[in-house]
Amino acid sequence: MPGVIDFIERKRDGGKHSREDISMFTAGVRDGTTPDYQTAAWLMAAFIRGLDQDELAWFTEELAHSGDVVNLPGGGIAVDKHSTGGVGDKTTLIVAPLAAACGLRVAKLSGRGLGFTGGTVDKLESIPGMNLRLSTDDFSRLVDNIGIALSGHSLSLAPAEVKFYALRDVTGTVPSIPLIASSIVSKKIAGGAGAFVFDVKCGSGAFMKNARRAEALAGALVDLSASLGRASVGVISDMEQPLGRWVGNSLEVMEAVEVLSGGGPSDTRDLSIALAAEMLLLSGRAEDMISASKLAAARLADGSALEKFKQVVKSQGGDASVLDDPEHALPRSSGRAVISAREDGYVSRMDAGLVGAAARALGGGRMRHEDAIDPSVGLGIFKKIGDFVSKGETIIEVHYNDERKLDEALRPLESAYDIAESALPRRLILGRVTRETRGAAE
Ligand code: URA
Repeated sequence: MPGVIDFIERKRDGGKHSREDISMFTAGVRDGTTPDYQTAAWLMAAFIRGLDQDELAWFTEELAHSGDVVNLPGGGIAVDKHSTGGVGDKTTLIVAPLAAACGLRVAKLSGRGLGFTGGTVDKLESIPGMNLRLSTDDFSRLVDNIGIALSGHSLSLAPAEVKFYALRDVTGTVPSIPLIASSIVSKKIAGGAGAFVFDVKCGSGAFMKNARRAEALAGALVDLSASLGRASVGVISDMEQPLGRWVGNSLEVMEAVEVLSGGGPSDTRDLSIALAAEMLLLSGRAEDMISASKLAAARLADGSALEKFKQVVKSQGGDASVLDDPEHALPRSSGRAVISAREDGYVSRMDAGLVGAAARALGGGRMRHEDAIDPSVGLGIFKKIGDFVSKGETIIEVHYNDERKLDEALRPLESAYDIAESALPRRLILGRVTRETRGAAE
């Protein structure tokens, strides 16, 4: 192994690393023997020069195996679904129990949110008693016993990735497609699943603001997974406007329960069915998209997906009775404000980024990892792009607890939407990326 300085210089000058060198460097970062300034220098070199397919696969494997790897018991492939994050994206709360109700083994590790609203872990924590810090043993036992487990990332999984990510966050090196792909895929592999569905969000409320970037990330995720022996598919979904009706932690749990009960807004429902169907296809439980979607829709309609959700909540110490009446039993804010249409017309823009900024200003999201989240605040998006609205009708309902935070939230909302003489609804699913669409032989 060359010294760390040689390693940094090789990438700085556009050279290629060997597998051994990547392994030694990653171990030094994990163990803390490589100082942060050298890791940061390499990250910037990798950000600018990129990593080729070999380097990316080797680096991802090292990250994935830098700590514990969940060992799920045999009995069929476990499938994980990962969203790159968006405003109002509560699909994991629906898709995980739905796929489990269809007979899949679902091993779901999720993050806390940094940004607009909480992550899946924060949303689930609005259910009293829910334990989202499962040990790796309890996690795999639950998958074995009831077919599903939901947990936050334990620090013992992919610890080197945690260190790299913390440094990327403060060195301007987050938005690199290879580094993002290695970060996501390494955590998925450490989580024990054998196949992945990636929901890559695209638009103003997403990390990837345009179709070109979203397609590039989806392609990198699918290629990297394949090079590490994992089947996967990338679904590119719209995030120009928020998903569904509600944005905010307990409000999103409420909407998830509505969909799991067979109702709810059509976009949340349609995307959840599409993602669950992709999981069924990947695992070989369905032959084509039509039969997979039919099966998923049937499990929503017959109540078995909701039952599975209650079962996992109960198994993880949560009070499943709140799911019988989430509107009243989950944390609710004390104040309500409304934004009404100033004229008749069609909603032609509902900016997810600005709605997300408002949710964060209300206290529903966090800027730093240590910030607390208010589970009760959020927004109801009552009109979506393409909907007709009459003058005076409510477009957005704001749920708040603190008047000062309300003022802060109203500022981005003022310019979050437009009304025009005509507007068409947006497409929800913008693309689908597989090994075949990448031009590779399966
Ligand atoms: N999400 C991740 O898990 N990693 C990244 O690098 C970016 C988003």
